[in-house]
Amino acid sequence: MNAIALAPAAARARATTLLTCALAALAGLMFGLDIGVISGATAFVQAEFAIDDRTIEWIVSAMMLGAALGAAGAGWLSAALGRKRSLVLSAALFVAGSLLCGLAWSPAALVGARLALGLAIGVATFTAPMYLAEVAPEHIRGAMIGTYQLMITLGIFVAFLSDLAFSYTGAWRWMLGIIAIPGALFLLGMLVLPESPRWLLLRGRREEAATILSRLRGDDAVVAREMAGIQAQLEAPQHGWNLFRRNRNFRRSVALGVALQVMQQLTGINVIMYYAPRIFAGVGFGTSAQMWTTAIVGLTNLLATFIAIALVDRLGRKPILYAGFAVMAVSLGAVGSMMYLGTDTPAAQWFTVAMLLVFIVGFATSAGPLVWTLCSEVQPLRGRDFGIACSTFVNWTANMLVGATFLSLLNGIGHAATFWLYAGLNLAFILVTALWVPETRGVTLEQIERKLMAGHRLRDIGRCRRP
Ligand code: BGC
Repeated sequence: MNAIALAPAAARARATTLLTCALAALAGLMFGLDIGVISGATAFVQAEFAIDDRTIEWIVSAMMLGAALGAAGAGWLSAALGRKRSLVLSAALFVAGSLLCGLAWSPAALVGARLALGLAIGVATFTAPMYLAEVAPEHIRGAMIGTYQLMITLGIFVAFLSDLAFSYTGAWRWMLGIIAIPGALFLLGMLVLPESPRWLLLRGRREEAATILSRLRGDDAVVAREMAGIQAQLEAPQHGWNLFRRNRNFRRSVALGVALQVMQQLTGINVIMYYAPRIFAGVGFGTSAQMWTTAIVGLTNLLATFIAIALVDRLGRKPILYAGFAVMAVSLGAVGSMMYLGTDTPAAQWFTVAMLLVFIVGFATSAGPLVWTLCSEVQPLRGRDFGIACSTFVNWTANMLVGATFLSLLNGIGHAATFWLYAGLNLAFILVTALWVPETRGVTLEQIERKLMAGHRLRDIGRCRRP
């Protein structure tokens, strides 16, 4: 083949594709900034407004409530407006929400601003992975989804760093407001993004779809093949809700996606993401040590995600999930025990911090990225958008539940019992994984769909165990 003659066009197309995907992955960065930014601000907000823990829980969780609502409406929005315009809208709302957070004049205003920020991120967390799957060429699709999780963890880390920098002056308004700057860059990026060819075809805008696809692929044969492929897929249109009502097998895969997201959140990951400084205060650290250690948590989360990306297609989903839940159960059990025994000596304090870091590694290499991957793998094509919307909605709802109850749990049953509770849940998830989660490594989505729809047990819809 004349690879040399094609080289410039193909290289240009590859660069356009990578740039497009990088921009969409920036949505992951926004997700992470949103999650990370609040942890450093709560103590200062609490002091300035003289509010109790219950109100702080509201301020933290309003974002997740907004995100759940945003994710619930995102399917409709991205079908009606298109992927690109939905992402532009969410980026604009993100900028407005973060500026409002920085300017908040009362706790209620802060709750409102966090709600808006959440709406933005709910729309983006549904639309961006979908956009990625629609524009990324097949051979890099897996890596792209991994990149998305990586960007989430990068966002969290950057937010923790900026919290650290502003913590010396207690400038919580700057902590919350400054993420408007990456938000504005994201908005600019989204403005130059091409619309998804799949959505254009869905709207019958064939020529525009072909033009964009040839810019992205740079090879007429590939473009023709993909256009035909998308067209064939569109002949089996999305009937998520109808399928859900009529088909028991589809209800099972939706339930699996929902259960996976509930498990991901009930590992307790966001307890650490939202309240790390508070936890480190409980261990006996002063403000500066709290913020530094929180930044180390963010860095650990980011670095461990690389391990997950490297391992996921080699070891398979289930072994990684078993190991992850076991590590999380043991480390949280140890944190609870330390809280019970007391952390008065530096050795005890650092051991507790080390156990929390082990927990983070356990999450970031397993349930963090894998749950998102599994959630899109197990849904049949005709109901995929609906199934993913349901599980994303539940991710945010469960996330809110965790954020809205942590301080009450600490105040109610105490530090030790709270961590033991989460340790126990992680232990239970090993059993849930064994009983219901399929192994999807190296299995095509068509195969999974065939077995699901033929009524095989959920744990058998992926790779079958050798006899
Ligand atoms: C989860 C988030 C979490 C993040 C931490 C994501 O997979 O959905 O809730 O904050 O990982 O890295």
